[in-house]
Amino acid sequence: MNSQQIFEIAPSILSADFARLGEEIRAIEAGGATVLHFDVMDGHFVPNITIGLPVLESVRKATDLTIDAHLMIEEPSRYAVKFVEAGANMVSVHVEADVHLQRTLTAIREAGGQAGIAINPATPLTALEEALPFADFILLMSVNPGFGGQKFIHTSIDKLRRLRRMIDERGLQTRIEIDGGIDAGNIRKIVESGAEIIVAGSAVFGKGKPTEAVKELIDAAAVWA
Ligand code: DX5
Ligand code: ZN
Repeated sequence: MNSQQIFEIAPSILSADFARLGEEIRAIEAGGATVLHFDVMDGHFVPNITIGLPVLESVRKATDLTIDAHLMIEEPSRYAVKFVEAGANMVSVHVEADVHLQRTLTAIREAGGQAGIAINPATPLTALEEALPFADFILLMSVNPGFGGQKFIHTSIDKLRRLRRMIDERGLQTRIEIDGGIDAGNIRKIVESGAEIIVAGSAVFGKGKPTEAVKELIDAAAVWA
């Protein structure tokens, strides 16, 4: 455990009230969130459909937070750069969805974005090895993507620790983001295990008090406290 470790809270607006998105964003800013997680689903890669480029353009105008677009879509190479152009600072594509991953990551970087690889719970970490030097961050899924409010898959802690080792052993600066089933009860262990960007959807927006919920997560995760 590193007492200097910096972590960021990335509320997922998937669980927000879309009719009041501006207010919801201001509420998480007030709580101390620094990243806005933007879940894009196409009804093919995952069984759900959510939001896309036009919503991103509007959200970009409404906040200075880092916008983190998580593309849960087939053929992400067709859209990844468009998300950077629409205002996303970080864009992740699933390793399971892209057979030319290195090319897509490089295109995201060349467009000025931070490039991320998202990885599903059942996909082994070895699938990341060759592309790791081309990624700015890894988005480790701790639920199967598609819906908010699912239960954290407990084996994700061990996978997270192994990913941390894999990055550190290679001397890389790749950041680790984790997504799915995170709340005030498990966030501390997750931060201690090496995650730096913590996505939380229902834990932030589920109880109608997003400002307080973000603060609660920050307090619960403060491993130096
Ligand atoms: C799941 C999404 C997540 C989701 C997290 O497919 O990628 O970002 O919004 O929601 P919670 O925190 O409720 O699991
Ligand atoms: Zn997500």
